[in-house]
Amino acid sequence: MPDSFDQLPGRAHQDIRTFHPRRVPLSRAQREALTDHWPAVGFSVHNPDNGTPPVTPEGHLDTVTLYGRAAPLVLEIGSGMGEGVAQMAAADPDRDYLAVEAHVPGIAGAVQRITEAGLTNVRIAHGDALALVRARIPEGSLDAVHIYFPDPWPKNRHHKRRIVQTRHVELLRARLRPGGTLHCATDWEHYAEQMLAVVEADPGLTNPHGGYAPRPDHRPVTKFEQRGIDLGHTVRDVVAVRTG
Ligand SMILES: C[S@@+](CC[C@H](N)C(=O)[O-])C[C@H]1O[C@@H](n2cnc3c(N)ncnc32)[C@H](O)[C@@H]1O
Repeated sequence: MPDSFDQLPGRAHQDIRTFHPRRVPLSRAQREALTDHWPAVGFSVHNPDNGTPPVTPEGHLDTVTLYGRAAPLVLEIGSGMGEGVAQMAAADPDRDYLAVEAHVPGIAGAVQRITEAGLTNVRIAHGDALALVRARIPEGSLDAVHIYFPDPWPKNRHHKRRIVQTRHVELLRARLRPGGTLHCATDWEHYAEQMLAVVEADPGLTNPHGGYAPRPDHRPVTKFEQRGIDLGHTVRDVVAVRTG
C-alpha cells in the first residue's frame, strides 16, 4: 500500500495548492504503520486505491459509519505528524476528530500515534482538506475547525496559497454548525494579522475575544509551534464563532 501514497493528491478543482507538494521517503516504521493500520483508520481524498470514505446517499461523509457513533465532529486541517490531534482527541473522548493532511510521512506519523494510543475517535484523510470539505462535508455539520500553524507562505507572491484567506474561511464557516468555532494559530506575525482581519470581516463569524485569543490549554505544543518559539516568534491564536 505505501507505494500508492507516493502519488500526490490530484487537483480536484482549479485551485491553488495551500501545501508544498513534497516527496519524502518513509521510514520503515512509517511504512509498516500504513500497511498495517491504514484501512482501519484512514481514507484518501483523491485516490480510491488508498481507501474511500463511507458516504451517505447524499454523498456526504458518513460519520456514523466512520466512527461507529454519532458525535460532534472536529476537523483538523494540516495535522502534520499528528501529535496535536492525538493529544487533543485523547483528552476529548466525546468528540470525533478528522485529521486531514497532504504530506504522506505526516499521515504515517499520525497513524502510528493514534494506533499506539488506541484512539477510536480519530480518523485520518490523505489529501487536500479543502477538496474534502467541498465534496463531502455538509453545511452546518462541524463542531469545530482547527488550523494550527499552517504553512506561512511568507513571500508576498505566495500569500495566495495561504489557507486562511477570505474564500476558504467562507467555505469553512458554512460547514460549521451555528455556535461552532474556527480556531487558527500561527507564529508568523503577518499571517496572524491576516487571520484576524479575515475572520473579523466574515459576516457569519464573531470574534468573542475582540482580538487575539488567549492561548487555550487544550492546544498542545507541537514541533512547529516549538520551532517558532525557539526563533523568538510570538504565537497568536485566533478564535471565531459561527453566528450567521
Ligand atoms: C506547518 S505544518 C503544521 C502541522 C500541525 N498543524 C502542527 O501544528 O504541528 C502545516 C501542514 O499543513 C498541511 N497542509 C497545508 N494545506 C493543506 C491542505 N489544503 N490539506 C491538507 N493538508 C494541508 C501541510 O502539508 C503541512 O503538513
